[in-house]
Amino acid sequence: MSDKTYPPAPEFAANAHVDAARYAEMYKASIDDPEAFWAEHGKRIDWIKPFTRVKDVNYNFGDVSIKWFEDGTLNVAANCIDRHLATRGDQTAIIWEPDEPGDDAQHITYKELHAEVSKMANVLKNLGIGKGDRVVIYLPMIPEAAYAMLACARIGAIHSIVFAGFSPDALGARVNGCDAKLVITADTAPRGGRRTKLKDNVNQALLHDTTDVKCLVVQRTGDQIAWRRDLDFWWHEEAEKVSADCPPEEMSAEDPLFILYTSGSTGQPKGVVHTSGGYLVYAAMTHQYTFDYHDGDIFWCTADVGWVTGHSYIIYGPLANGATTLMFEGVPTYPDAGRFWAVCEKHKVNQFYTAPTAIRALMGQGNEFVERYDLSDLKLLGTVGEPINPEAWNWYNDVVGKGNCPIVDTWWQTETGGHLITPLPGATAAKPGSATLPFFGVQPVILETESGKEITTTEAEGVLCIKDSWPGQMRTVWGDHDRFQATYFQQYKGYYFSGDGCRRDADGYYWITGRVDDVINVSGHRMGTAEVESALVAHSKVAEAAVVGYPHDIKGQGIYAYVTLMSGETPTEELRKELSDWVRQEIGPIAKPDLIQWSPGLPKTRSGKIMRRILRKIAENDYGSLGDTSTLADPGVVDELIENRMNRG
Ligand code: WTA
Repeated sequence: MSDKTYPPAPEFAANAHVDAARYAEMYKASIDDPEAFWAEHGKRIDWIKPFTRVKDVNYNFGDVSIKWFEDGTLNVAANCIDRHLATRGDQTAIIWEPDEPGDDAQHITYKELHAEVSKMANVLKNLGIGKGDRVVIYLPMIPEAAYAMLACARIGAIHSIVFAGFSPDALGARVNGCDAKLVITADTAPRGGRRTKLKDNVNQALLHDTTDVKCLVVQRTGDQIAWRRDLDFWWHEEAEKVSADCPPEEMSAEDPLFILYTSGSTGQPKGVVHTSGGYLVYAAMTHQYTFDYHDGDIFWCTADVGWVTGHSYIIYGPLANGATTLMFEGVPTYPDAGRFWAVCEKHKVNQFYTAPTAIRALMGQGNEFVERYDLSDLKLLGTVGEPINPEAWNWYNDVVGKGNCPIVDTWWQTETGGHLITPLPGATAAKPGSATLPFFGVQPVILETESGKEITTTEAEGVLCIKDSWPGQMRTVWGDHDRFQATYFQQYKGYYFSGDGCRRDADGYYWITGRVDDVINVSGHRMGTAEVESALVAHSKVAEAAVVGYPHDIKGQGIYAYVTLMSGETPTEELRKELSDWVRQEIGPIAKPDLIQWSPGLPKTRSGKIMRRILRKIAENDYGSLGDTSTLADPGVVDELIENRMNRG
């Protein structure tokens, strides 16, 4: 890791919302008196009934409860739309860039957004959706995805977005998991010149469903689809029947806004619940300060709305701030590796926010794809999702930013709602590969992994926890508060446990070292090894499977699966492909194993526990230092695995 620092340029700092002195002062205030700090910043959004209580938080295992602005009421959609109408009704709220560069982009003003969202809200009501009902959104990156989210927020329904790359099975599990009454989808979804049959996937997902889940279908391509009579409705037909006016529902600050399923270290994905008031305050505030967003700027976050990054930094944060936010339907490499930069030039993007995996992939394609375009409107670059290696950081800085754009490396999670550790571009000197310093109100601590003791020296390494709460924190796991407590508050008592390892350097900068649990980070997407394992063992020819991550040049981590076949089955190349395709079908393309090693046996302790540490080492091609293997039931298994290892790079 490089320790070279890049201080903010004086001209940038001079015009920034926050410079170094102001950061120090505001950070101190936020820690000394959180109540006063958040009482002030809670006012950045419009409340129907102002809150009088700021914070009511209990981190004690068994009694965990997190509430912010509890007695205030508001409507999130009204904050993202209606309150801007008087001052910026004709300003573009959303720029939509379609998959095909030749197709027309759309510029949707705040007025138009108001009309579309209100119509969709009325359609939802006509379909029987009301306050507290769950709606699954399974859409491509089209404006209707924003309308759907905000329409739910407007009437107080809780949305749960399922990334359009997930399989019918994964979709079905999420629809059932939150008892959704309605799925909003599209006929088919163009992406990178190919089409995904979303409506067909929904039909398959709901095949065994007996509760008659309805489906609202956006016509994106006009492709043929199978229709479920009485249950399916075209958005464009229903929209004609309703008015473009729908009064926003008054919601309590702690009413759920959305559920978002994410992978954990055990079992199936869990439904992370975010509520209305605190989440919106935090998403909006981090969007403004971390990206140093100013009125009139064009902001582009390349994430998909299926991930938390899309929720907080394509939709809720920017729109709450009255920003112009860009939504891109396509992929970075279609029609070629210059697409991101073509879109930046075309729409005069000022802040650009993407993932290290995309940067590494584009870096590998050569500089000419960047140099072809005029990127002079760029003022700031951001990254999220995984640690960025200094090489990629330098390329981003030199080739994309021409040395003129601060880079913000933002560390956060689905659970945190918004950035927790991040540079503020006018205040913080960047160090390539470090997420640097905490955001206002955030108190990171590093604990000894085993003892859980807080390490109080400046230089420290261990697990990353957070002392005390911040408004954007998740409140519970949908339907399973015990799991919420067990996952985040049990192992290290009195703290929020992030699941990440971390180092703090002599300057107090934080360096995320990766997950310390059985979650792997593939191209910036979280994948639970347990999920991939359970998909593999669901195949009739598989007896047992163990999945670990290994370093991958582009993806950050790749998926390495050790598979034991049922006796009598022959390991062949065809079977290897069959298993890969199987996982792809069970979960989605992002879960497809990169390497599958046939493993007649797995290293287990005498009590039958698989020793993942050993499997990780072998997958990393670092089998010289396996440590103590004497507790293994059959140490011979290890030699066999090393002998036939798949990663020899
Ligand atoms: C990882 C994405 C290093 C981390 C917003 C975390 C990062 C997980 C960074 C959350 C970063 C995210 N540097 N690692 N800047 N940002 N991570 O829930 O392991 O999809 O726990 O949220 O991504 O992933 P999630």
